[in-house]
Amino acid sequence: MRIGVLTSGGDAPGMNAAIRAVVRTGIASGDQVFGISDGYRGLVEGKIQEFSRKDVSEILNSGGTILGTARLPEFKYEQVRGLAIKQLEKHDIEALICIGGDGTYTGALRLHEAGIKTIGIPGTIDNDIASTDYTIGFSTALNTACDAIDKLRDTSSSHQRCSIIEVMGRNCPDLALYSGICCGAEYIITNETGLDKEKLLESLKNDRLNGRRHAIIVISENITDVYSLAKEVEAYSGYECRATVLGYIQRGGTPTPEDRLLAARLGKYSVDLLHEGITGVAVGVIKNELHYTPIEEALKMVNSPNVELNKLVQKIS
Ligand code: F6P
Repeated sequence: MRIGVLTSGGDAPGMNAAIRAVVRTGIASGDQVFGISDGYRGLVEGKIQEFSRKDVSEILNSGGTILGTARLPEFKYEQVRGLAIKQLEKHDIEALICIGGDGTYTGALRLHEAGIKTIGIPGTIDNDIASTDYTIGFSTALNTACDAIDKLRDTSSSHQRCSIIEVMGRNCPDLALYSGICCGAEYIITNETGLDKEKLLESLKNDRLNGRRHAIIVISENITDVYSLAKEVEAYSGYECRATVLGYIQRGGTPTPEDRLLAARLGKYSVDLLHEGITGVAVGVIKNELHYTPIEEALKMVNSPNVELNKLVQKIS
């Protein structure tokens, strides 16, 4: 087969490990594999080159994506997708492996509907793809967030401060929930818990009156303006308070072994599925077993609430 591979949407650590697995599995199976630069934008522009085994050497442990990535909202237009299909035809590429999040999956679904054999690999730090237990990049981002929160705790406890730390995740609570638990945050605020400001301020005030020296609040992005919240905490609770937005530091860095392994498994699995004639699907790992789900269904699925972890937070924070 002649297989194309691209990364699209936000970069995530482990994308390179997935590219490597696709290229090497393909070549080992007698395929030709083509790297497409800069996501769907590069596909439309014809940025396509054949990859050898050697082209993907020394990338297993690097963050980002050697292919480059982009968000291309215009891909929703049939005319734009037509240009992409022309490029695939020009290079005689019959199948496309698309690594990214739900925007990437939507693009892959539209191409599948137009007759291109597509597979979606979940690559995003957000862990917001419900057709897999974990997305490539989540483990690394979690490690980065934990490392940062541990460091912020040092200053917070030394100065008897309250520290509000905003983590990424788009609309998914997992980065906040997991990092908050792992770092012993006193409060974890996500779109699952919601923000009850009055209750939070009251509780912090009581903590302070009861002699607590410091507090860590981990909060998901897109909940509130954390700098304003810090001012309110300072005004009402008796704590000095600082806010830190971890931001893009969470997207970079060398992938953890968990992300490398997940990427290697899903990269190989994608090529195997193409050989079996299974396409238009998103791959993932559920209960540590490889799984595929039609992309259309995967896009409709919603993550189940983290009931057990939220209960755990109530007991131990
Ligand atoms: O999807 C990954 C992510 O980093 C989200 O956590 C965040 O909301 C978003 O991307 C930021 O997107 P951009 O880099 O396009 O601003």
